[in-house]
Amino acid sequence: MFTAKLKGAPMPVFTNARLATMDPKLPGLGIIEHGAVHADATGSITWVGPAKDAPASAEPALDLGGRLLTPGLIDCHTHLVWGGTRADEFEMRLAGRSYTDIAQAGGGIVSTVKATRTASQAELTQLAIKRARALMAEGVTTIEVKSGYGLDLESEMKQLRAARALPAALRNRLDVTTTFLGAHALPPEANGDKDRYIDLVCRDMMPAVARENLADAVDCFMEGIAFSGGQTARVFDAAKDHGLKVKLHADQLSNLGGAALAARYGALSADHLEYTDEAGAMAMGQAGTVAVILPGAFYYLRETQKPPIAHFRRHNVAMAVSTDANPGSSPILSLRLAMNMACLLFGLTVEEAILGVTRNAAKALGRTDIGVLKAGARCHLAIWDSLSPAALVYEMGSSPLYARVYGGMLEGTTS
Ligand code: NIG
Ligand code: FE
Repeated sequence: MFTAKLKGAPMPVFTNARLATMDPKLPGLGIIEHGAVHADATGSITWVGPAKDAPASAEPALDLGGRLLTPGLIDCHTHLVWGGTRADEFEMRLAGRSYTDIAQAGGGIVSTVKATRTASQAELTQLAIKRARALMAEGVTTIEVKSGYGLDLESEMKQLRAARALPAALRNRLDVTTTFLGAHALPPEANGDKDRYIDLVCRDMMPAVARENLADAVDCFMEGIAFSGGQTARVFDAAKDHGLKVKLHADQLSNLGGAALAARYGALSADHLEYTDEAGAMAMGQAGTVAVILPGAFYYLRETQKPPIAHFRRHNVAMAVSTDANPGSSPILSLRLAMNMACLLFGLTVEEAILGVTRNAAKALGRTDIGVLKAGARCHLAIWDSLSPAALVYEMGSSPLYARVYGGMLEGTTS
């Protein structure tokens, strides 16, 4: 596909593109017509603007023929490293069993824990590579990966190490951030004692994870079938002690006040949020906590309660959109499908969906060097075979991606 002279050029220059910069100072997607992007040898953007104003460059420019150019997409909430499959539970749910029912009967997350514990680290990385490639083929350049299918010290560390090994296994063509989700579910050996298990998460697992620098943030599943507000607060306090940022699976199946608790802790994001009330949305707006919308889980669990998008808009809560890729509630490896669902099921606009996988997804990860086109940001780009931003969202089953650029390096869509 690419015979372009730019491939592998040390200081790449892209020109004649319709830039969607995501610059917050510009309206909407921050469009610049007939724009150019320059990068340096380290893979950082050095200049963005109208091509006519671009500084002279010794490098040949790649003319993109007016195509739409966005930052590389960011999938800010995945559980990409897991063993086994839950296809049988999918069938059980079709036959009428509920997600909660299956979890309480020892299936659900715990069934994936059994399969993940028996897999080796190398096997887990191998499984995750295939899944990551599916995301990358649609223009994704950064993903977040959570643990939470180990639920004991060694298995959680194994999952996080497998995630940390992903970029090298993908020839350094993917940016991966990791999140420690030891408080995802109660393992069978805890014999129902949630408080004692939270002790283990805070006193044994988290210090070990922090010592080996295996996680960029800490997450928790606050829900009737998982952990209470008090237990979540203990996990967040321990995270603070280790200088780790927090995120929360909040208000997915019921309203336990997760959004407000996340806001109180200055969480980067609260995720799911189907049952969040207006007070929760307001608290998130005030704290700058991002609402991560996960329509895949809503769809697969045949939920009817939708997240309060109108409240998020009213209280200026930044919204991100993500796959929640996992074997149970959201076996989806297409960020564009998640965007499409966010629009069709929850009423997001095309602009909100695109901001949700760029600028706002970066914010949900506490990152300022991705998700926008600006000097100093990483030169991770997605180039689309279209002029129209709507093309990213409306057509499923084929990808409008023309090319992906990672750290200034141009790739075909099948890298
Ligand atoms: O984000 N809600 C909790 N955790 C995952 C589901 C994990 C699973 O079912 O395996 C989620 O939906
Ligand atoms: Fe999740």
